[in-house]
Amino acid sequence: MQYQTIKGEKVPSLGLGTYRLTGDACEGAVERALGMGYRHVDTAQMYGNEAEVGRGIEDSGVERGEVFLTTKVWPSDFAHDRAISKTRESLKKLRTDYVDLLLMHWPPDGVPLGETLGAMRELQDEGGVLHIGVSNFSPSLLEEATEHAEILCNQVQYHPYRNQAALLAQAQEMDYLLTAYTPLSRGGVQGDAMLKEIGEAHGKTATQVALRWLVQQDKVSAIPKATGEEHLAENLDVFDFELSEEEMDRVFSLSR
Ligand SMILES: NC(=O)c1ccc[n+]([C@@H]2O[C@H](COP(=O)([O-])OP(=O)(O)OC[C@H]3O[C@@H](n4cnc5c(N)ncnc54)[C@H](OP(=O)(O)O)[C@@H]3O)[C@@H](O)[C@H]2O)c1
Repeated sequence: MQYQTIKGEKVPSLGLGTYRLTGDACEGAVERALGMGYRHVDTAQMYGNEAEVGRGIEDSGVERGEVFLTTKVWPSDFAHDRAISKTRESLKKLRTDYVDLLLMHWPPDGVPLGETLGAMRELQDEGGVLHIGVSNFSPSLLEEATEHAEILCNQVQYHPYRNQAALLAQAQEMDYLLTAYTPLSRGGVQGDAMLKEIGEAHGKTATQVALRWLVQQDKVSAIPKATGEEHLAENLDVFDFELSEEEMDRVFSLSR
């Protein structure tokens, strides 16, 4: 596993996404992934699968302290007391005393940004949350958020067809983690001719090239969702090759 260092914190560059994973499939995928070497799991209160994620972590036998675990508060729960009670519920479901990262799932709509981030800071003071972050925030809103809390991460849609140059530059300048969600464009990168061609030179698939391109960028992590052993293994196997500067630029050109 490779790590990004953000504000002195080491975060595994690759994590497991769990949106739309529920029930036994979710519990099994989390357990399997951790058994294979994944050390970063992404869930959210809205996904309705925190209990399964918690059981999967427990079943894996991997020490809680070795796993970087993220959950997110949904906008309808952004009011101070709701954010606190929903996150305490998350900890119970996840069978843990803390999450490594708690995110505001989307920008606020009504509740002042400082109210939600203030509640998240209280959870941090209690020890139930190690780091605070946001998701789907623009550069200007991210900047505003830093007036209320230290922001470790902004999780946004990022893959070869999605240009995130402004956020990437900001993440590198301000030292925050840019976590790429939907990094496979929901499986859409699999058949890409250019990614396939680049992959052939390294004995890798188009999917692996897309993930390697992400995790090779400073301050970027990726959280592909996968269910079965084959996809989980393919996605994890991106740390034994490197894309040249020219190959990186070719992938960047897909979004221009
Ligand atoms: N913050 C937000 O607002 C937000 C929004 C969307 C997503 N997310 C997070 O980001 C995670 C990932 O995004 P996503 O689930 O939207 O999309 P994704 O990771 O880009 O794609 C997932 C799809 O790709 C398939 N897949 C996985 N590995 C593959 C491989 N090696 N080859 C071919 N297909 C493969 C999966 O199938 P199988 O399941 O069958 O393996 C699944 O259908 C989510 O699960 C969630 O944790 C966050």
